[in-house]
Amino acid sequence: MQELKLPQQSTIDQSSVFPLCLTTESNDSIQLINWLKSNQEELDNLLRKHKGIVFRDCGLKSVQDFHDSIVATGLLGMDYIGGAAVRTQLTERVFTANESPPSEKIPYHHEMAQTPSPPTHLFFFCEVPPQEGGETPILVSSEIYKRLKVKNPSFLESLEKNGVKYVRYMSEHDDPTSAIGRGWRSTFLTDSKEGAEAALKKLGSTWEWQHDNTLKTVTAILPAIREDIGTGRSNEKTFFNSMVAAFTGWNDSRNIGENAVVLGDGNDTVCDPQGIRDTIEIMNHIEVVIPWKAGDLMLLDNRTVMHSRRPFSGPRRILAGLVRDPDR
Ligand code: FE2
Repeated sequence: MQELKLPQQSTIDQSSVFPLCLTTESNDSIQLINWLKSNQEELDNLLRKHKGIVFRDCGLKSVQDFHDSIVATGLLGMDYIGGAAVRTQLTERVFTANESPPSEKIPYHHEMAQTPSPPTHLFFFCEVPPQEGGETPILVSSEIYKRLKVKNPSFLESLEKNGVKYVRYMSEHDDPTSAIGRGWRSTFLTDSKEGAEAALKKLGSTWEWQHDNTLKTVTAILPAIREDIGTGRSNEKTFFNSMVAAFTGWNDSRNIGENAVVLGDGNDTVCDPQGIRDTIEIMNHIEVVIPWKAGDLMLLDNRTVMHSRRPFSGPRRILAGLVRDPDR
């Protein structure tokens, strides 16, 4: 395995590149898959240090190559229950990435931060690179925490103290015209209202049925700031939530993003727009944008790294794999 230098990489913790970029000597996918299989601990260490790793020019071509790479890491799979985006499952471990319209930007988020058990790791695979735009910018969210503490300490304090709730109206069936158009039937993998209610109860959410079978859901109070206890160094506080994504992106015929995030303060106070603006400014300042190349495999530590998607034109096929493995 060799390290590649990319002009877009940044430096975190004074000395680690973010993200790390690795390549194999041969252009044969089996070499990478074998390396992942026999270096699981090394992969963990590298990911803890660099928080994101791009494997480039390793000969990965197909959905099956991607699937095999995920399996080789030994990380546990998980279902996509409670996520907001429309996705198609391709193999037991592989989904299409968020299928929201290409012209829409997907704002920064930790994957499924609006659910109680988000994935710990996230894999992306570039099957067809976009011709224009369509990058997946990434950033380290503990850096947002550090900078917000200086820029808008009262906002940060209210988040840390109260936590947040997310309010979302779901249609019955998937609505592909919306970035959050996953209907309640597919969100909760159910055919009945009772099934949806049982799943919501399990998530700790509350709900209200609307006249047209639209379902209003309000999550339990979720932390907006989390402590990443696995760094092996000092524990880091991360800006771990879907606030910016919900506030700026949860807009469709049913939802108004600015009303989608409320504080868990007992009064459902809507979250402060200035705080969101300050957060976005920090995000734009610290983000890393690496253009996709066909065959790229990206592994992100979803506990510490946020991702987004830039708008694009032309074909683009990025696949995703979600992992929940609290032990690693
Ligand atoms: Fe995502």
